[in-house]
Amino acid sequence: MRDQSITDDLLKGIPKAELHIHIEGSLEPELMFEIAGRNGVPLRYASVEEVRSAYHFTDLQSFLDLYYEGMKVLLNEQDFYDLTWAYLQKTSSQGVRHAEIFFDPQAHTGRGVAFETVIGGIRQALLDGERLLGVSSALIMCFLRHLSAESAMETLSQALPYREWIAGVGLDSSEVGHPPEGFKAVFDEAEKYGFRRVAHAGEEGPPEYIWQALDILQVARIDHGVRCMEDQKLLKRLREEQVPLTVCPLSNVRLRVFDSIQEHPLKRMLQEGLCVTINSDDPAYFGGYVADNYCTVRDWLRFTREDFQKVAGNSFRASFLGERRKRQLLSELETYFAS
Ligand code: HPA
Ligand code: ZN
Repeated sequence: MRDQSITDDLLKGIPKAELHIHIEGSLEPELMFEIAGRNGVPLRYASVEEVRSAYHFTDLQSFLDLYYEGMKVLLNEQDFYDLTWAYLQKTSSQGVRHAEIFFDPQAHTGRGVAFETVIGGIRQALLDGERLLGVSSALIMCFLRHLSAESAMETLSQALPYREWIAGVGLDSSEVGHPPEGFKAVFDEAEKYGFRRVAHAGEEGPPEYIWQALDILQVARIDHGVRCMEDQKLLKRLREEQVPLTVCPLSNVRLRVFDSIQEHPLKRMLQEGLCVTINSDDPAYFGGYVADNYCTVRDWLRFTREDFQKVAGNSFRASFLGERRKRQLLSELETYFAS
């Protein structure tokens, strides 16, 4: 039986950070239609309901195919602004005080949308989010691993004029068959410019990809990382070094990484002493924002108050925030659970 005193509102109110959210994955069908309409982009769906009913995925690739298709409506700076602003409003209503947001520039530049258009719109919304909602943020530019290392390097060059707007680089898209080691040169180059580094690893790919992300790409966090549970030596390493893992429970079930939420290892990962955080990944596609993921693990994985306090604390500790705001948010969290 779950603890009935842990209400949805209590979970929404927990001050938290979100560290694994692809901004393009927050494009709700309603906004997709609105932007498609004003940009004259044809959609192969007749209605918002038809889009939602198409969201049945069998694996990561089946999702990515629709994800890349949906974002084709995004053409102008205003579109990227509206996308980001909608996410910030929603996430702020779920207790998020700080968000570290992925974006996929190659998925836009590859369709002829300028890098500047993408980052300009996102950046303006982030500034407004800070000013009007009190949500601080950082941007993480992801390289698409199904494209070449040369394309990633070219993207890094395009980002350099915006160096101060981008906190770090990441690695996403189709995992299996595209191991981290292929991106060593671009991650080394990113380090020279002072970018933080993270990578998706161990979502569908084997534990070996997590080792590579740590040892070859020198990442500060692993995105997903759930397959670490298959490798005892890796578990020891992750625990000893307290490497943060940005876990996304609803995503993992929707993409069939696990057959059901009951089989999700998040609770066991916490019990193993790993530094886990809870995140939404692509909320418009997977049926929930960050607090919806918190509610799901309360309902199915018997998360306790102490568990939630721990993972919310981890979300701040694992963030790229400066020490001052980190301490301030951790103390807000402390106060929240004390009352
Ligand atoms: N995995 C890999 N690439 C992605 C994901 C994901 O869950 N979401 C958006 N791009
Ligand atoms: Zn992701």
